[in-house]
Amino acid sequence: MKKIVWDDSFSVGIEELDKQHKQIVGVINRLIDEPKEGFDPDEVAKILDELTKFAHYHFKMEEQLLAEHGYPDLQAQQDEHKEFRVELANLCMDSMKNHTIIPINVLLYLKEWWTDHILVKDMKYRPFLTGRVGK
Ligand SMILES: [Fe+2]
Repeated sequence: MKKIVWDDSFSVGIEELDKQHKQIVGVINRLIDEPKEGFDPDEVAKILDELTKFAHYHFKMEEQLLAEHGYPDLQAQQDEHKEFRVELANLCMDSMKNHTIIPINVLLYLKEWWTDHILVKDMKYRPFLTGRVGK
């Protein structure tokens, strides 16, 4: 599977959020890099754990920033984030229980969810935030 290639189209216009998005994309790319068979389950668990931490931290900060500035579509962001958190928790459970978490559909889910989230959902707040927040 091809990795996610970061370019300017991913930028939401806020440096700190871009940095966090890049970190998350980096973690997903590491997962895409893992061999699909004969992968090290401990390594995969470690990567998923990292993804959980990064995502939680990032969602919290993003939601805080949007709330602070009275973003009208905050609820939609919170719902999306919540959906991802639940899904990721399930993936982590599977990974711990079965040691089989790298099937292609999992990678596809992570890749598609984040690509769509950043490029479509987050991009909606770009014009709103960039006018209000200094970089
Ligand atoms: Fe978001």
